[in-house]
Amino acid sequence: MVPRQTERRTAGAEAAPAAARPGPAAGAAPTEPRPAPAADRGALDALVRVSQMLAGNLDLETLLHAAMAAAEQALGAEACSILLQDREGRRLTFHIVDGPRTGGLAEATVVIDDHSIAGWVAAHQEALLIPEAYGDPRFNPAYDARTGFRTRSVVCVPLAAQGRPLGVMQVLNRRDGRPFDAQDRELAQAVGSLVATAMHNAQEHQARLQAERLATVGQTVAGMAHCVKNILNGLQAGSYVMDQNLGTDAPEGLAKGWKIVRRNMQTLSNIVLDMLNFSKDRKPIYQACRIGDLCQDVAALLQSQAAERSVTLVTSSDLAEVWVDEAGLRRCLINLVGNAIDACGKGGGTVEIEVGRAEGEGRCAIRVRDTGCGMDAATRERIFDPFFSTKGGRGTGLGLAVTKKVVEEHRGTIRVESTPGQGTEFVLVLPIEPPEGAGGTARRGPPAADPRRPEDKEPHR
Ligand SMILES: Nc1ncnc2c1ncn2[C@@H]1O[C@H](COP(=O)(O)OP(=O)(O)OP(=O)(O)O)[C@@H](O)[C@H]1O
Ligand SMILES: [Mg+2]
Repeated sequence: MVPRQTERRTAGAEAAPAAARPGPAAGAAPTEPRPAPAADRGALDALVRVSQMLAGNLDLETLLHAAMAAAEQALGAEACSILLQDREGRRLTFHIVDGPRTGGLAEATVVIDDHSIAGWVAAHQEALLIPEAYGDPRFNPAYDARTGFRTRSVVCVPLAAQGRPLGVMQVLNRRDGRPFDAQDRELAQAVGSLVATAMHNAQEHQARLQAERLATVGQTVAGMAHCVKNILNGLQAGSYVMDQNLGTDAPEGLAKGWKIVRRNMQTLSNIVLDMLNFSKDRKPIYQACRIGDLCQDVAALLQSQAAERSVTLVTSSDLAEVWVDEAGLRRCLINLVGNAIDACGKGGGTVEIEVGRAEGEGRCAIRVRDTGCGMDAATRERIFDPFFSTKGGRGTGLGLAVTKKVVEEHRGTIRVESTPGQGTEFVLVLPIEPPEGAGGTARRGPPAADPRRPEDKEPHR
């Protein structure tokens, strides 16, 4: 924690911290800069620390957590919260709340108007210093009643970058028991503007990544159209076989046609789900997943595809439960096992899915191993590139790119070992427990797609 400098208190209540002050006073000799007073140095130190904590942080959530820690540290405060503004500029939502007994506030909303402290600050885009919270009509004691926290003094500053309001930052109670003063407000403003700039950079970075991904998706539409055309041909062929056998005494003919239709629908569904997964930034929705059941489920889904190629599917698991985004991991396994079956070709072979503990604390290893054609070094180099495929019109080349993306969203790793002519092994290493604060729901019963993501539903199972 940055030590609070007693000199700051004696330097005059309205003294601004160095970063908030204009340049040298008129008439001061530019060649002989005066040493900054101790009060300014304290504020400057705090700001340098804040900017170091925020520097290079391009993930918005991580950044906001760092911002709060930085603000609390710089101001010697008991608690801090960041509220984000909606696009319409009507409401603020408590996005991150830190401090004792503040859990009940997460996701609470505040209207942007003059009736609350945060609302007032967002509406006027001005900082507010409230030395005695209970004496201010804008302070809402209901929050304290809800959390059990006792607010004494508040500094609230707007967060805005490039003229765009992003939200507000509230800092509560100095740890030394004294009320916040004008210096604290100005330090909070300086911290707020660093935080807002870092937020703006992170948002721009996210938008750029998204745009790049969408551009890549756009480039491949022609390739996709080719792939979808092949699937349509397959669907037409299947329907033709069914037509020919309708009303005849040949159920095997109908079954044959239906099998072709079903396989092509499954392929189409895989492509669409991979496209959706690839084009969006997604946070895993963690659930306690019975990993052995999930592997068996994927094997059952791909059983007919495997049987057509005389491929034997084997699954085993040493672990009961792993906390993952089940729909995401299911896609990874479908892609890996689908590739493994393809690699076995028509000559048959074995594909194994094996789950066990990985080396190191709290991580599991999911291995998908095949006895297929393997890959040469040049292919291995490119397999995670989006749209790289050696399967011509039968593959989009998105399967492994999506798999890697999902694994990395889980803070996991993926690696591959392959020998041409002998086979391939993919190893996913994932944390067994969810990251702190990720929430999640324990689930019992059969694996299910997440209802919060309609696109995760697999209609053709
Ligand atoms: N188990 C494997 N054995 C051999 N080669 C593999 C294996 N898995 C992937 N590959 C190679 O990696 C390439 C990329 O795989 P990826 O799953 O991304 O796309 P795809 O299977 O070609 O198309 P789709 O989008 O339909 O999955 C494949 O075309 C293949 O050359
Ligand atoms: Mg594939």
